[in-house]
Formats: sequence, C-alpha cells, structure tokens
Amino acid sequence: MNKFTFSYPTKVYFGEGSVAQAFAAELGKVGENVMLAYGSGSVKKNGVYDEMKAMLSQADKKVVDFSGIMSNPTYTKVQEGAALAREHHVDFILAVGGGSVIDCCKVVSAQAMLEEDIWNMEYGKGKFPTAGIPMGAVVTASGTGAEMNAGAVITYEEKKWKGPVFGTAASFAVLDPAYTMSVPPMQVLSGAFDTLSHAMETYLGNSDEDNVSDDVALAIMRNTVVNMRRLLNNIHDMQARSNLMWDSAMAENGILKCGRLTDFQAHQIEHQLGAYTDCNHGQGLAVIHPAYYRHIVKDAPEKFTRLAKVVFNVDTAEAGVDALESFIKECGLPTKMNQLKSTVEITPEVLRQVADTCNVIKCGPRELDREEIYEILMECM
Ligand code: NZQ
Ligand code: ZN
Repeated sequence: MNKFTFSYPTKVYFGEGSVAQAFAAELGKVGENVMLAYGSGSVKKNGVYDEMKAMLSQADKKVVDFSGIMSNPTYTKVQEGAALAREHHVDFILAVGGGSVIDCCKVVSAQAMLEEDIWNMEYGKGKFPTAGIPMGAVVTASGTGAEMNAGAVITYEEKKWKGPVFGTAASFAVLDPAYTMSVPPMQVLSGAFDTLSHAMETYLGNSDEDNVSDDVALAIMRNTVVNMRRLLNNIHDMQARSNLMWDSAMAENGILKCGRLTDFQAHQIEHQLGAYTDCNHGQGLAVIHPAYYRHIVKDAPEKFTRLAKVVFNVDTAEAGVDALESFIKECGLPTKMNQLKSTVEITPEVLRQVADTCNVIKCGPRELDREEIYEILMECM
C-alpha cells in the first residue's frame, strides 16, 4: 500500500424511505433558503419533486427552483445556478438527480461564494475552493458515484473541454433505490457500466503490489456485473438496483483509491468525446473500453488475468477483454461510435480532435501517446 490519508465528508442515508430520516436529521442544521436543483423534468413526472417540495415546506424552508440541469452539465449552467443562489441568498442546495445534477450543484455551491471565476481560479492559478454553500444530494439515477465526492465533471462549451472542476461535497446523500425505478433501462445499464469502469480504471493503475484496494475493486466489479445481469432478466429487481446503487457509491468514494494510483485513461478519452459529441457518459465508456484494453492488456498481464478470472470467469487476460466486450453487447450497450447518440457526425476529424485534446494519464499500465489514442478511437468506428 502507498501512503494515504482518508476521511469522509458525506453522511449516507441508504435504503427505501430513508429520505424522511435524512431530512429529519439534516434540515434543521441548515438555513431557511433552499435551492431545489433538478434536471430536465423526470422528477416532476415520477413525483419526486412534489415529495421534496412537501418535505421542505414542512421543514419551513423557502424554496427556489434551479431546473433544467442537462446531462453533461455546462459551465454556463453552473454560472446560472451560482447567480440564482446569490440572488436568493441560498443557505442550502438540495441536488435531486443523477451525476449531472449533483455535479452541477457542487460547482454552483463553490462558485456562488467566490468573487472570481472558478474555472480561471482552478485552471489558471491552481487554487481550489475552500468554502461553499452547504449541499445535500438525493440520488435518482445511480452509476457515477458523484454523491460521495467533491469533484464534478463540467463541459465548458466554448473551450470544447469536458473535465473536472472541484466544488463542494454533499454533507449528506440519500440513496434510495426506489427512486431509480423510473430511470429508462438503457440509462440504468449505462450508469452501471460507468460504475464498472470506475472500478476497473482504479484497479488498473500502475501501483501494483498486492493491495487490499484491488480486492475490494474486484468485488465491486463482480457484483456490478452480476447485478447488471439480474437487471437484464428483470429490470425492476429492487435488490439488484440496491446493490448497484451502493456499488456506484463505493467505486467513486475514494475507498478503492486508498494506497494506490489509478488509471482513468478511458475516462479522459470519453470526457473529450463528450465535449465534442455530448454523448452519454456510460455509453461512451462502453465503446472505448474494449479497444483501449486491447492496447494495454500486455502491459499488465497479471492484473488483466486476475480480472478475467474473478469478474468474468475466464482464464486469460485476452479472454477477459473479449468477455468484457461480449458483456457490453449482452447489455445492449453500444460498442461502436456510430451507435452513440451524438450532436455531430462522429468523423475521423472529430476523433483526431478528441485524441489531441484529452488528458494523457501517466499512471496507467502504459502511458499512451496521442497517435495511439487516435488509433484506439478509430478502432471504435
Ligand atoms: O434530467 P432528468 O429529466 O432528470 O433525466 C435524467 C437524464 O436524462 C434521467 N434520470 C435521472 N433520474 C431519473 C431519470 N429519469 C427517470 N427517472 C429518474 N429517477 O437520466 C438521464 C441521465 O442523467 P445524468 O445525471 O446525466 O446521468 P449520470 O448519473 O450518468 O451522470 C452523468 C454525468 O456525470 C459525470 C459524467 O461525465 C456526466 O456528465 N460523471 C461524474 C463523476 C463524478 N462526479 O464523480 C464521475 C463519472 O465518471 C462521470 O464523469
Ligand atoms: Zn465515469
């Protein structure tokens, strides 16, 4: 194990009906002006918005809505939220949604308390926020694990860049699997694939002694695959949704990263693919992973073999990568660029730009150069 420090800012309320317990314990600690933040309308259709509104009003909160947070939230949306928070003297932000809503609110929280532009501060000066409007998260779509960390992924439209912006971690998160029941099946599977990707990418970092975090990561991967298969059988399986919801949080709450470096090269490529195409995050990862792993499988043969055996019950590293690809197809997730929903036609020129602008990770099994990243992307055509 490498040296590490671990502490956790987010209190988790997990399980059906846990929102009542969470609000009873937490809302008394925050001021009266609450920003209720949500996405493009699912919460209004499934009744979650009305439920939140009623509980906030019972707790004597004044509510201002921050609505329309899109998937792959934009920097413009962050600035809109921060202006709204300032205008209404918001004391507490309640993010109700998936990774996009939660990420947007993390940065709104920090930006609202800053005099300067948060992007310039983080990317220009290398300084990170030290304060933010307190926030809580009610997760309605699982997969990203965004509810248990302070990092957000934001699309800066003019800069054609999708990447991390650090904001505020939620002080509490409600993880009620029942809230995920209305998520469209393909989003459920895309989200779960994102979780699988987080665990694989953490496990494949190159700090490679025998490490307890690897064992935990393998358990998360195996459990994610098992429960995705349960959902293929019965998409309404609450136990499977429940396991996947906790897998999701576990994969991104820092536990798997203890004592080790991580890879996350597939994520860096996908984020830039997202910047150019606005594609779905989990689906972009599904396309990229097998091609990327075929390039690096020989650079970490023991780790890939172990993953193959534990997660997919096959004997060799290469067979593990094939099994991953078959599993992606079994789930009905995309394996080629032309299966992604995109705002532009995905051409070799677009992929060249993605390859030329994505972050290159130095702590994966092997550092790739941009030409090889382009080759990987072209193999996904
Ligand atoms: O916007 P609404 O109407 O709510 O619809 C959403 C959206 O269309 C819908 N949805 C959510 N809950 C629902 C529901 N539909 C019906 N019933 C419900 N209960 O699901 C769609 C996808 O939601 P979104 O939040 O965009 O998905 P996800 O949770 O996958 O988040 C994706 C974003 O998170 C970032 C991604 O890059 C992407 O921007 N990530 C954040 C990470 C983090 N902060 O740690 C890590 C990840 O690697 C990832 O990069
Ligand atoms: Zn992800």
